[in-house]
Amino acid sequence: MIADVRAARWAEPKISWGLVPTMGALHEGHLSLVRLARQQNDQVGVSIFVNPKQFNNPADLAKYPRTVETDLEMLREAGVDLVWTPPVEEVYPPGFQTTITVEEVTKPLEGASRPGHFAGVATVVAKLFNVFQPNRAYFGQKDAQQVVVIKQMMRDLAFNLEIVVGPIVREPDGLAMSSRNVRLGVASRAAAPVLYKALWNAQQAWESGNHDADALRMLVAETINAEPIAVIDYVSAADPVTLEELHGQADRALLSLAVFFADVRLIDNVVLG
Ligand code: PAJ
Repeated sequence: MIADVRAARWAEPKISWGLVPTMGALHEGHLSLVRLARQQNDQVGVSIFVNPKQFNNPADLAKYPRTVETDLEMLREAGVDLVWTPPVEEVYPPGFQTTITVEEVTKPLEGASRPGHFAGVATVVAKLFNVFQPNRAYFGQKDAQQVVVIKQMMRDLAFNLEIVVGPIVREPDGLAMSSRNVRLGVASRAAAPVLYKALWNAQQAWESGNHDADALRMLVAETINAEPIAVIDYVSAADPVTLEELHGQADRALLSLAVFFADVRLIDNVVLG
C-alpha cells in the first residue's frame, strides 16, 4: 500500500533512500542498479510494476514476462530494504485521469515507433517518485531515451531528487540484457549480438576519427543488414540531449537502434564523444 511505503520511507527521515523502478523479470541489468543504489544510499527501495500505460501494444503487455517470486528472492539476496509490487488499481485507481506528456524528446526514436509509450513512462515514474520520495532514483543507459525523457520532466517540473544512470550490462557475447531476450528463438538469439557488433564497429570508427553522423548510421545499418534475420526499425545518430537527428560532423552523438528479430524488438545504444 502507498501508505506503507511512505511510512517505511519516513520512519527515519534523516537517512537517504535510493529507488530502482522496474517492471520485474529481473536480471543483472536491474541488479547492477540495485548495487549502485546500495553504495550511494542508506536504504534502497525497488518497485515492480508492469505498467499497462506504457505498452502501446496489448499483445506486448500480455507477453511481458512475470516472475515475481524469483524477483523477490533476488532482491532479498541483494539486500533491498523495501519492495513495492502494487496491483494496477493502486497505481491507477478508478477515475484516474492525469497524464504527463513530455513533448519534443518523446517524438523521435522509441516515441515514433511506440505512440503513447513515454507518456505512460513519465506518468508512472512521477507517481513512483511521489510514493517513495527517494533522494536518488536509478535508471539504466540501456533505455537511453527514457533517461532523456525523465531528466527533461525533472527539470521542467522541479522534482527534488537526483537521477543516477547506470551503464548497460551485457551478456558475454555483447547482447544487452533485457527481459525480452527470453522470448528470442534459437536462431534469433544467435543473431542478436550483431547489434553490439554494429555499435562497436561504429565506436571504433568514431575513435579513429570518423565523426560523420550519416556515415556512422550507414555503417551500423550495413553491419545489421548483413544478418538476414535482423529487420531494422530505426538506426539513429542524435544529439544526446535534444535527440534531434544529426547530419555531417558531430561533437558527440547518441547512436541508437531498434531491430526486430522475428516478433521480438530489441534496442541498444552507445554514446560517442
Ligand atoms: P524495466 O525494463 O524493468 O527496466 C528497469 C530499469 O533497468 C530501467 O532503468 C532500465 O534501463 C534498466 N535496465 C534494463 N536492462 C538493463 C541493462 N542491460 N543494463 C542496465 N540497465 C538496464 O524501464 C522500465 O522497466 C520502465 O520503463 C520503468 C522505468 C520501470 C517505468 O515503468
